Amino acid sequence: MSLYSGRTALVTGASKGIGKALSRELAARGAHLVLVARSADALGRLAEELRETHGVRAEVVAADLAAPDGPSEVVAALRMRGTEVDLLVNNAGTGAVGPFFAQSFDRDRGSVDLNVTALMALTHGIGSRMLERGHGGIVNIASSAAFQPLPYQAGYAATKAFVLSFTEAVAEELRGSGVRVMGSYPGATDTGFFDGTAATMSPKAVSPHRVAARTLDDFARGRTASFPGRASDRVLTFLPRLLPRSTAVRIAGGVNRRFRHDAV
Ligand SMILES: NC(=O)c1ccc[n+]([C@@H]2O[C@H](COP(=O)([O-])OP(=O)(O)OC[C@H]3O[C@@H](n4cnc5c(N)ncnc54)[C@H](OP(=O)(O)O)[C@@H]3O)[C@@H](O)[C@H]2O)c1
Repeated sequence: MSLYSGRTALVTGASKGIGKALSRELAARGAHLVLVARSADALGRLAEELRETHGVRAEVVAADLAAPDGPSEVVAALRMRGTEVDLLVNNAGTGAVGPFFAQSFDRDRGSVDLNVTALMALTHGIGSRMLERGHGGIVNIASSAAFQPLPYQAGYAATKAFVLSFTEAVAEELRGSGVRVMGSYPGATDTGFFDGTAATMSPKAVSPHRVAARTLDDFARGRTASFPGRASDRVLTFLPRLLPRSTAVRIAGGVNRRFRHDAV
């Protein structure tokens, strides 16, 4: 789609999973890339692949976005290089799985730092410049987990509920400004998201490529929300609007118990 051709997109969490798929899909649509994550080697290899396969520019900014200065270091690196970002894709995210009190707090704290604080900081740092220039786009990768509390992923779902609320509010503030904001709400996606935990991905998980392609198609269509996963993922996001919250959270807890997330 021509919306992306010749534009510069910054993708966080580009070293693997959905972020890597988004980067490949953007390059295939003619966008230049700024790839951000901690794994400099993996980003370097991807940058080389994108340059060779699609003839686009691809640069790397290795950063720990969960560190207090991580997001501002990325913004400073862009300024120093003179790189203007047309599309910011806040994709990097992590989440703890298991009963809240059975885990060390560190993983949940890291998720808040990355999924919430870094997302807001990059939106502010890079979005301000887009506003000055009068055009740009911001895509926040949240999750279908944003729409209801999720027992055994309590902290993670709460960070995604934050992203949903924040994204909708900022999208409305910026309506008519030339800067568009969209949230993407995937369901289970076949990535290494659960690596390092005892949880396993649902066998019904969709491919990261499908999530990436549908998210970018929806943004190009001018949508403010994208549901790039299975139709059933989207249907489930309606349940909390129809049922009492106490019932919705019971059902969500039951689903996660079926996946044995209570035993992680
Ligand atoms: N997979 C799913 O089922 C699913 C469903 C709905 C929503 N999502 C959301 O989709 C997004 C991507 O998830 P995924 O499944 O692709 O996960 P993933 O395969 O685990 O990839 C996570 C990415 O985030 C980066 N990252 C992690 N910690 C970071 C940090 N401190 N600083 C900078 N980058 C960091 C990782 O790179 P480094 O390790 O190199 O830093 C990696 O590139 C997340 O926001 C997730 O919540 C996933």
